[in-house]
Amino acid sequence: MPISNKILDFMDRGSWIRKMFEEGIALKKQFGEENVFDLSLGNPVMEPPQEFFDELKSIASKPIKGMHRYMPNAGLEITRQAIASELNKETGFSFSSNHIVMTCGAGGALNVVMKTLLNQGDEVVIFSPFFVEYQFYADNHGGTCKIVNPDENFLPDFESLFESINEKTKAVLINSPNNPTGVMYSKEILEKIAQIISEKEKQFDSEIFFISDEPYRKIVFDGLEYPHIFQFHPRTIVATSHSKDLALPGERIGYIAVNPNYTNQDILIDGLVFCNRTLGFVNAPALIQYLVVNLQSVTIDISEYQNKRDFMYQELSSIGYETVLPQGAFYMFPKSPIPNDVEFIEILKEQNVLAVPGRGFGCSGHFRISYCLEDSTLEGSISGLKAAFQNI
Ligand SMILES: Cc1ncc(COP(=O)(O)O)c(C=O)c1O
Repeated sequence: MPISNKILDFMDRGSWIRKMFEEGIALKKQFGEENVFDLSLGNPVMEPPQEFFDELKSIASKPIKGMHRYMPNAGLEITRQAIASELNKETGFSFSSNHIVMTCGAGGALNVVMKTLLNQGDEVVIFSPFFVEYQFYADNHGGTCKIVNPDENFLPDFESLFESINEKTKAVLINSPNNPTGVMYSKEILEKIAQIISEKEKQFDSEIFFISDEPYRKIVFDGLEYPHIFQFHPRTIVATSHSKDLALPGERIGYIAVNPNYTNQDILIDGLVFCNRTLGFVNAPALIQYLVVNLQSVTIDISEYQNKRDFMYQELSSIGYETVLPQGAFYMFPKSPIPNDVEFIEILKEQNVLAVPGRGFGCSGHFRISYCLEDSTLEGSISGLKAAFQNI
């Protein structure tokens, strides 16, 4: 066998989304593209905002000398400064360009953060249901994940959090608004998590980092305000990207932001920059760093996602599915009408509707649908979702 046993096992465990994607291609060949409704992929169909194309035109007509060369591993000063200014506006904190490291997406950011923080055997506490890659990312850097269970609204069970933190815990990682549930953590929830972290730090005389993976931070509905984590704990780190808010997932542009009030920030930031380099990213792609400088307060049209959410939530509820109303991102995580989510996904597939079983996110008994898709796909999926519900 050319590849390691561990990777073989990981590929098997982490392949639900890819599996559904491949099955979707096979179904489309059999029944025709327009008769298969693939709700399994979180790849937005929305195009980037007009402002992005304006920046692209402007830079193509006036290229900056040396703009395609190597740069400092933390990224371009002008981009990091623009991000720091935007964060200062949003949080009232005093970020400078020093607190920002440009990365290859949020995925790259999380790998850089974990590589920087983790000693062999360290633990990262995550909350179920979780983004499927977290466990693989922690393993990349010698760590493991400890999983905290959710309550019935997909909010953290604090008792479970309290028990999950021990002397090996190096970080607590949240994702809000959440993939796969769309749930956003309130100020009170963040405060409570931070309070538990502080208590445990005292108990174990340790430093625990509170990390927020927030690529959906700007995709928030119903006029809700996004609560930033920085105010709740000094050891806070944000990993994020423009994959979703500017619809640029293929461009691999994101960043890490370190709390300006963290006392040991210099060594932490030096570590992050070193790891960005030695993981082989070297620096985030240059052209796209220039392009996002003036786009820090621009987003795709959030109301389009909110309309899609409203449509899917109303339709699913009227069929009889139990779903927690998403407050952001572009996913829903309804309860499977039968306990076995994998079996239900098969029933849905017979109706040419593809979704991802909850166990792919560490939370059986549910399934994930993405609604960052064409209205025709969402509308077309409803009769299959209804037939599947009625046929069980
Ligand atoms: C919760 C979460 N974190 C991180 C990522 C990685 O995003 P990026 O494209 O910025 O690497 C995703 C992508 O879907 C995600 O859903």
